Amino acid sequence: MRALQNKVAVITGAASGIGRAIAERFAAEGAAVVIGDVREPDGAAVVENITAADGNAFFLRTDVTDSAQVRALIAATESRHGRLDVLVAAAGIGGGSATTVDCSEADFDHVIAVNLRGVFLTMKYALSAMQRAGQGAIVSIASVLGLVGLPRTPGYSAAKGGVIQLMRTAAVEYAQHGIRVNCICPGMIDTPMARAAGDLAMQQFATLQPLGRVGTADEVAAAAVFLASDQAAFVTGAAFVIDGGFTAQ
Ligand code: NAI
Repeated sequence: MRALQNKVAVITGAASGIGRAIAERFAAEGAAVVIGDVREPDGAAVVENITAADGNAFFLRTDVTDSAQVRALIAATESRHGRLDVLVAAAGIGGGSATTVDCSEADFDHVIAVNLRGVFLTMKYALSAMQRAGQGAIVSIASVLGLVGLPRTPGYSAAKGGVIQLMRTAAVEYAQHGIRVNCICPGMIDTPMARAAGDLAMQQFATLQPLGRVGTADEVAAAAVFLASDQAAFVTGAAFVIDGGFTAQ
């Protein structure tokens, strides 16, 4: 039996990068996937790929900063599939180039709105649906920058540290409801977001990660499958690091 057979999964940010790899791998493992992302043509293309491989996928344009759109995403999932089993909160934006003094208030607010408040909103409404279903699993995508400091990332790092604490809070709040809540803290992973930081930044990060390279989105997806599956039945409240050894130093 496949790891996620008959699971219903909402994945935000699945039009690109890590979220996309997770959607494709979840579908291959038997999950019915509902993709919420702001990128309409890219999200539709992921659905086409999954459907062409005999998977089950559906896209709903969703901005995770907008509570009504997040509620509509969860409601559409419940009306289409009858319940929600898994949430992967992968939607996010980059946000690092200015020091704390130089970071504008608007840039700080924007990265917090998407990367922290967006995860809060998707968790909040997914948790309600999971309570209705009587069980569930949440995997949010934080970052090693929620664990260690890096210059020029005040908003992004604050948001990712917040995602880890949101995860821990919900893990202890909802354990008795049969809902597991974990997050993944990736190091530098080769995605369009990472490439936007430039080849030099990617190369520098690769040398900082003891395994000597950047990771792949599929390597993150493999961990997401495990954490979402019943194989991880005793795993909750964990910040699972996938960083080539970066935070072990
Ligand atoms: P990406 O840019 O390839 O994908 C991010 C996706 O999120 C895109 O499809 C984008 O349209 C979507 N998105 C952005 N704002 C949104 C919003 N308001 N509502 C809905 N969707 C929205 O980036 P990547 O690298 O795949 O990032 C995925 C997650 O992994 C992010 O949370 C990121 O912070 C995190 N991460 C990435 C790392 C990397 O090195 N690539 C390292 C650590 C964490």
